[in-house]
Amino acid sequence: MQTKWVICPKETIDKEAICQAGEIIRSGGLVAFPTETVYGLGGDALSPDSSRKIYAAKGRPSDNPLIVHICRVEDMKKIAVDIPRQAYVLAEHFWPGPLTMILKKAEIVPKETTGGLDTVAVRLPDHEVAQAFIEQAGGFVAAPSANVSGRPSPTLAKYVYEDMNGKIEMLLDGGQVGIGVESTIIDLTEDIPVILRPGHVTQEMLQQVLGEVCLDPTMLDVTNTEAPKAPGMKYRHYAPQGELTIVTGDPAAVSDKIKQLLLEDSKNGRKTGVIVSRQDEHLYDADSVKVTGDREDMAAVARSLFRILREFDEEQIECMYVQAFPQDGIGQAVMNRMLKAAGHKIIEAKE
Ligand code: TXA
Ligand code: MG
Repeated sequence: MQTKWVICPKETIDKEAICQAGEIIRSGGLVAFPTETVYGLGGDALSPDSSRKIYAAKGRPSDNPLIVHICRVEDMKKIAVDIPRQAYVLAEHFWPGPLTMILKKAEIVPKETTGGLDTVAVRLPDHEVAQAFIEQAGGFVAAPSANVSGRPSPTLAKYVYEDMNGKIEMLLDGGQVGIGVESTIIDLTEDIPVILRPGHVTQEMLQQVLGEVCLDPTMLDVTNTEAPKAPGMKYRHYAPQGELTIVTGDPAAVSDKIKQLLLEDSKNGRKTGVIVSRQDEHLYDADSVKVTGDREDMAAVARSLFRILREFDEEQIECMYVQAFPQDGIGQAVMNRMLKAAGHKIIEAKE
């Protein structure tokens, strides 16, 4: 199969391309598309066959459910039942936007799409191309991130192409995505809402509108070995080919430790990389120094993290280091993804 790569910026939507993309989905094919978080790999959410194709293209285990993307709040009622009041409150505050809600699924949603579960993940993305495409596709697009299972989620079309060329009919290229980490997932099927995956919509923001909101305890705790409730969170993810290590502690001790580790690695003939803020760029002598932005700018870290991990792979970097970030706000999502990329390898620098 030839994958058709079409440039489709949100400022000047190519209506013909969107129509074609919609037609592909309605006839059972797959189209990758931009959202505000990462690129998605879309198929018809109401077709078991389309969902099977998505799993095959990603090389993803079929017990790992897909998110159903909609383009109108009221469409939530067609795919979910017993919808709690909280879902409408959240929709009003955060949709369209980077928030996915877990609800009880309606009959119409096939088990192939939900990985065998009785619940369904629903999201209304804040991206003009995504919305126009979902509408043309019939209103219900199942879409995981458009990467091969285990690799970092794509934030640029060229990474979608790298992973999906020949496996999907079309790629809508909307340029670089804005947020860079996947949507927050909140489970509304429990008495107290639970965050299954942290994202741009933070725990603080959710608590402000809902009151009590907990965090799946398996999420950030390095030592917790319980299975997370979002099936996808149990797999090794975002893994670069080399080895990423997170270093925590006092900033001065952290940079001394990283310098020492870099020196040891290069003595052993290994190719090294570091992820740093602009302020720390000059500190390190590594084969590849990747700057995320200003030290305080966690949104820039989120936006660049997955791209940097892929660039390290392109440069065949073997040993990578990054300082731990504070886990408040979007920092929670960033650290969650970094811990996974590092296979939970985190060391403490002592003064
Ligand atoms: O930002 C995003 O959410 C992106 C864009 C494309 O929308 N999508 C995305 O999908 O990240 P994916 O498939 O890579 O991650 C979906 C996560 C998985 O961890 C999956 O296990 C969880 O959502 N999930 C989906 N349905 C679920 C359900 N019914 N119950 C619990 N977890 C669910
Ligand atoms: Mg994913």
